[in-house]
Amino acid sequence: MSRPAYRQISSLTNPTVKAARALHLRKEREASGQFLAEGLKIAAEAMELGRAPRVLMFGLDAADHPLLRRLAAFTAEQGGEVIEVTRDILEKVSRRDNPQTVVSVFDQHFADLATLDPKSATCWVALQAVRDPGNLGTIVRTADSAGCGGVILVGECCDPFSVEAVRATMGSIFAVPIFKADIPAFTALRKTWPGSVIGTLLTATHDFRAAPFRAPNMILMGNEQQGLPPDLAALCDVNVKIPMRGRADSLNLAVATGIMIYAAT
Ligand SMILES: C[S@@+](CC[C@H](N)C(=O)[O-])C[C@H]1O[C@@H](n2cnc3c(N)ncnc32)[C@H](O)[C@@H]1O
Repeated sequence: MSRPAYRQISSLTNPTVKAARALHLRKEREASGQFLAEGLKIAAEAMELGRAPRVLMFGLDAADHPLLRRLAAFTAEQGGEVIEVTRDILEKVSRRDNPQTVVSVFDQHFADLATLDPKSATCWVALQAVRDPGNLGTIVRTADSAGCGGVILVGECCDPFSVEAVRATMGSIFAVPIFKADIPAFTALRKTWPGSVIGTLLTATHDFRAAPFRAPNMILMGNEQQGLPPDLAALCDVNVKIPMRGRADSLNLAVATGIMIYAAT
């Protein structure tokens, strides 16, 4: 069966290619409101949720893949640009020697805090000043896996739409609502929260398994270096600790969040 002919691009100076490469920079992502997603699976996941790429770039190796064909047709139908590119372009756009055969550009989407309905889920995750994009992406994926309502980024956090964060979500970036809240907005949200707000602190004396979980639970996690600051810990109904039995003094943030999410759901 013949395949539809899409525009072919081989020049690194092509404006679409240049704009896609620039999306490695946070300021370019913020200015354009777009982000890069690598791989066919993640773009297909977006398609399942009705989200079409603005730009779909694919290499010759992917051209005959049935899923790529569906995705290309869907992208074109939705007004996106579908282009066949060289391996060199895929390498440069993804900054990898072994690039995926598909790289897409999507519009970013943050959910509006005013629309957050606590009772629509059993568990929500709030992350204070998360710094590591791999942690953030892993947490979004875990929140998706456990059916959480969303992830709330409290204060200055790393960008959930960075290439590293999106990669770590494995597609969950399209499924999990991401909210942003500064400290006053988070404090206001907490005041009207109808369930338990559970903080996590290494200095806490309560074991996490004895936490007074009452849905909708909000789990509040601290920053990787400093942990949860006292003013935010004080907003919680209780602060809990996951026992540290060996020599390590703390768990990785994403691991601790996963344990808390599953304890709360
Ligand atoms: C790497 S830890 C922070 C370590 C930091 N030096 C501190 O003193 O809190 C990052 C976050 O993961 C969570 N966390 C890690 N280990 C934990 C544990 N054993 N109990 C409860 N929370 C934990 C907390 O939310 C913490 O703020």
